[in-house]
Amino acid sequence: MSEKQIFQPNPEFAKEARIGSMEAYNALQKRALEDYEGFWGDAAREKIDWIEPFSGVLDEANAPFVKWFDGGKLNVAAQCIDRHLDTRKNKAAIIFEGDRGDVQTITYLDLYKNVNRFANLLKEDFGVTKGDRVVIYMPMIPEAAYAMLACARIGAIHSIVFGGFSAEALKDRIEDAEAKVVITADGAFRKKKPYMLKPVVDAALEGDTPVEKVLVVERNEEEVTWKAGRDYSYNELIQGKSAVCEAEVMDSEDPLFLLYTSGSTGKPKGVQHNSAGYILWAQMTMEWVFDVKENDTYWCTADIGWITGHTYIVYGPLAMGATTVMFEGVITYPDAGRPWAMVENHRINQFYTAPTAIRVLHKMGEDEPKKYDLSTLKVLGTVGEPIDPPAWKWYYEEVGSSKCAIVDTYWQTETGGHIVSPLPGATPIKPACATLPLPGIIAEILDPATGEKVGVDETGYMCITRPWPSQIRGVWGDAERYVKSYFGDVKKDGKAVYFTGDGAVYDADGYITITGRTDDVINVSGHRMGTAEVEAAIKKHANVAEVAVVGRPHELKGEGIFAYIVLKSDEGVADEVEEVKAINTIIKQEIGNIAVCDDIIFAPGLPKTRSGKIMRRILRAIAKGEKITQDISTLEDPSIVATLEKIVNG
Ligand code: WT7
Repeated sequence: MSEKQIFQPNPEFAKEARIGSMEAYNALQKRALEDYEGFWGDAAREKIDWIEPFSGVLDEANAPFVKWFDGGKLNVAAQCIDRHLDTRKNKAAIIFEGDRGDVQTITYLDLYKNVNRFANLLKEDFGVTKGDRVVIYMPMIPEAAYAMLACARIGAIHSIVFGGFSAEALKDRIEDAEAKVVITADGAFRKKKPYMLKPVVDAALEGDTPVEKVLVVERNEEEVTWKAGRDYSYNELIQGKSAVCEAEVMDSEDPLFLLYTSGSTGKPKGVQHNSAGYILWAQMTMEWVFDVKENDTYWCTADIGWITGHTYIVYGPLAMGATTVMFEGVITYPDAGRPWAMVENHRINQFYTAPTAIRVLHKMGEDEPKKYDLSTLKVLGTVGEPIDPPAWKWYYEEVGSSKCAIVDTYWQTETGGHIVSPLPGATPIKPACATLPLPGIIAEILDPATGEKVGVDETGYMCITRPWPSQIRGVWGDAERYVKSYFGDVKKDGKAVYFTGDGAVYDADGYITITGRTDDVINVSGHRMGTAEVEAAIKKHANVAEVAVVGRPHELKGEGIFAYIVLKSDEGVADEVEEVKAINTIIKQEIGNIAVCDDIIFAPGLPKTRSGKIMRRILRAIAKGEKITQDISTLEDPSIVATLEKIVNG
């Protein structure tokens, strides 16, 4: 399969698709370019159930602090639930499959009642009100979705912390957001065994904490410690709560949630998304990119702890009234046929996962898809990192029987929803290519030096040159960091534009291929990890003098974490294995398992300029086993390069 190969949309599918041809796509994008506010205003009027209509579409007066749909009033939970009750009361909203195979179907009416009870609990028992921050540290169980929607219903701002983060990482996020409530579970099940979350919360709350109350969903019923006056059982408090809870009337720009993500400093940033613009684009992209039909069943394998879980397990599918599958377990357990068994059993029509998962499923179960009936599948999605052609080919041919569209969706926590992606009924696709900006999104690859659009085959910076409804509204508590992180690097026509942090390139057809991060952020299994964050953790080891962390290609994870460490003692390392273990233990404590290093090497020094700046480019090249071609004569000690090459590559 050559890079140039083009696959046309399945004509049967295109006939029924919401956007069924390139003409239709072009017409939409033309409208957006010619009448940007008209395009978005119409979309918002059509898609959102407004409590009160908005008066303005886009207010850029204070850019990059923008406002969308000013004056509008809505409630995101009502958009996701209440408005479906007339027509979809008995339709499955969530199909939950537990690790052990237990299945639960939650209809829209059930969801309405469960969310309202949850909202009443938060209000009545914990005194949570509009604007309060609530941290959610939960496994993949329906109560996690109830918790999110309950917050949205009463106007509280949720901040989900991925269940794989450590107590220290959880503590930092709780403190930064000044959360007054944590919602967690005793734990859940993984590979048929219980695992625990509550003890991590206990550790995170030791010492001074803004948290007053902890709500614990009892899922695995293992023994946990209960702190009197602070910890309460959801299973007990939820009894007798009213299934009616009036939805708080929210402004378009009232915050909906925070989600912390890595940047290029040691401190994660609280990405803030607001109500109307976020939910509008979540719903529109669900409809366009997955093209979910009324009787379809859709499954996204992400964890709710990441933006993909927010937008494409909970908010997007529910806003459009779809049936969304939620899975507690591990996709390779009991074997690498698990997802295909689930596709067969639940008759899944759209399946959305990450390249790293595709590579693992391919490697561990190349022939597994053949054993199941996957004929219901229509659209296959990928997200999180560039997908490599071999993984793409297997996904396309073996999982999709060469008849499903593959949507390589490019976006990030800050964009709220997809930015560049094929449309399954319109866009001719090329393997491992995110293709074109979605209608309404003005995404361009610019030359950072000139702000001009780059030519064919020239790598430039992936930018979004007009504000869009679901864009990040701020970094929690740090307005300056918001401006500096996203609007500092590229100017077009003298105006700062949003820069994603990614490099990208156009081909001769104007298709966009993402080439990867241009900053010190690495992409581990489709998740962003700041090298500075890992370095800060490693520096907590008493014997570490200096450290530099870089990414290097990894067969399954996409990128692995590679650390160069200079120890304080000049005698070298007494026991390398022990030292590596100690360093990874610290990383697990400070961040979590996801940040554990794939390679640690002990070095006598690091390549630095005379002004003391570490030359990461050189370290990246050495880690990849590449020849050093750049001029190293400006280094303080050029000989260190050969020394490091010898240690790493022998
Ligand atoms: C970064 C965002 C978006 C949800 C998951 C990750 C990379 C994402 C693609 C893709 C190439 C991709 C980018 C981006 N990325 N999707 N289809 N092709 N790269 O969210 O943690 O905010 O990370 O993931 O580098 O900036 P995130």
